[in-house]
Amino acid sequence: MSHIPAFLFALAALAVSAVPPLAAQSPQPEDSTGRGAHALAFADRHMVAAAHPDAVEAGLAMLRRGGSAADAAIAVQLVLGLVEPQSSGIGGGAFALHLDADTRAVTAYDGRETAPLDATHDMFLLTDGKPMPRGAAATGGLAVGTPGTVALLARLHREHGRLPWAELFGPAIELAREGFTVGPRLATMLAGRRAERLKTFETTRDYFFPGGAPLTAGTVQRNPAYADTLSRLARDGAAAFYEGPVAQDIVGAVRGAATNPGVMRLEDLSGYRVVARMPVCPVYRMYRICGMGPPSSGGLTVGQILGILANFDLPGMGRDDPQSWHLINEASKLAFADRNRYIADADFVPVPADGLLDRDYLAARAALIRQQTSIIPPVAPGRPPGIPREPRASDDSVRPPGTSHISVVDGDGNAVSMTTTIEGAFGSQLMVRGFLLNNQMTDFNFVAERDGRPVANAIAPGKRPRSSMAPTLVFDRDGALRLAVGSPGGSRIIGYVAKTLVAVLDWEMDIQAAIDMGHLVNRNRFTDLEDGTGAEDLKAPLEALGNRVKVRDLNSGLHGIEIVDGRLRGGADPRREGVARGD
Ligand code: DON
Repeated sequence: MSHIPAFLFALAALAVSAVPPLAAQSPQPEDSTGRGAHALAFADRHMVAAAHPDAVEAGLAMLRRGGSAADAAIAVQLVLGLVEPQSSGIGGGAFALHLDADTRAVTAYDGRETAPLDATHDMFLLTDGKPMPRGAAATGGLAVGTPGTVALLARLHREHGRLPWAELFGPAIELAREGFTVGPRLATMLAGRRAERLKTFETTRDYFFPGGAPLTAGTVQRNPAYADTLSRLARDGAAAFYEGPVAQDIVGAVRGAATNPGVMRLEDLSGYRVVARMPVCPVYRMYRICGMGPPSSGGLTVGQILGILANFDLPGMGRDDPQSWHLINEASKLAFADRNRYIADADFVPVPADGLLDRDYLAARAALIRQQTSIIPPVAPGRPPGIPREPRASDDSVRPPGTSHISVVDGDGNAVSMTTTIEGAFGSQLMVRGFLLNNQMTDFNFVAERDGRPVANAIAPGKRPRSSMAPTLVFDRDGALRLAVGSPGGSRIIGYVAKTLVAVLDWEMDIQAAIDMGHLVNRNRFTDLEDGTGAEDLKAPLEALGNRVKVRDLNSGLHGIEIVDGRLRGGADPRREGVARGD
């Protein structure tokens, strides 16, 4: 902690002081699927936390057979692609942070989709030069980025797997062949108005609307095409995805899409490469918070929020003090201003990563925060050390909600924190051989320049669209793993993860309680407060400080595992249908 502004010790009679303690409010007792909140899970050996019980069981089965955290994460992902197809799968991309317990090395695997070689900076512009509405761009072939998830799983296995590759496919193949039970969340989404888009393409429509009606909760659904695809991958490895009949069908579906035909070629798939990167690991109080650097904005922006908050005594103020939330709100605005200006794929544009996390720079940003007023968004970006000389324009694209987070710790202390996505719900809506293709290209900014200045996150061939995914591993002062966590939620992921870290590390809440606690998110625009939770009580005090506040559904999917006194404790988000389980 560098300095504590005096005003924080002189909490005067602000409007905020009349607010009831947040801790007194319980989280919403039931989520939209009708499921109740979870109890904190405990384990002594190993644990998996993910978005669906079938996927968690597949991961646990691998751990019980002596598999590593990497093995378990792979099995989880393969099942998620079946039982939670709206969120992630082999047609998408992912980031995985891996801790090797022996060497203590943390590796950040980048399996993000790439823009096809024939992509152009103006591919989402209409004839009048205006950008396509995002909703219209989100369906069909043009939005599909070259998928990276299969290559990521193969790399994880090659470097950290213990069980035979083919064995990891067993649970998913069996469930796809014999049938899985459609869960309430998938059924609710299929019954909704937005699922109409799925009917754009015949194969997708026939799978999700057999006989014309949406799949309903409790139905046993088979996916023989997915079982066949997985069997090929189990037998022949990732090459069976990136070359040969599967690759040909992906390209055929993308280019032949009746809506928004795309430009992907076989060379895009055969040329796809996972990148092993250095994680971004800023220090927050006594912890090292490792996250995903560019092309994700997750690690740097969570790091900026925490780096600004490190200038205040959040542990002393506690979670019941609305000033704590005021500070989180302000820090989020400031961090998003920099994110929108400076962060994109660093292999294509210079990103001042060190400067964005520079302690003095963040202390200067923290000094902009006032106790009695809020900064009116949009806040201007700062000038961190190392910013590119060429002036840049900001983008402020706000992404709608298909993503999932997997946390695994194995019996040897290896860990995986992996956030995986097909971007929007059901991705591009294009289904090939039993899996959905992503619409990750919509994570680029559609406009390449503003007022003559280039936008960092513009489209270029081979470039990876900026992400907000924030898979995180936290280490204590001794370098021991303290926490693995992450979430879906589009650019709100950053706020969900930052809040959970503050709750666990500063307010000593257990991971389940931290996940349950109502959300506050600010992306340098409105302050979003979570409907039906204690966070709603912040509306009046934050408005009194000048904020524009919206109370709304905030659908995180946080899955975390912490290590406390040598024991594993797991939490799963009651807002979705995941669980944390271990032995
Ligand atoms: O990479 C990203 O940041 C987005 N494509 C993630 C989308 C997402 O989290 C949707 N979630 N519910």
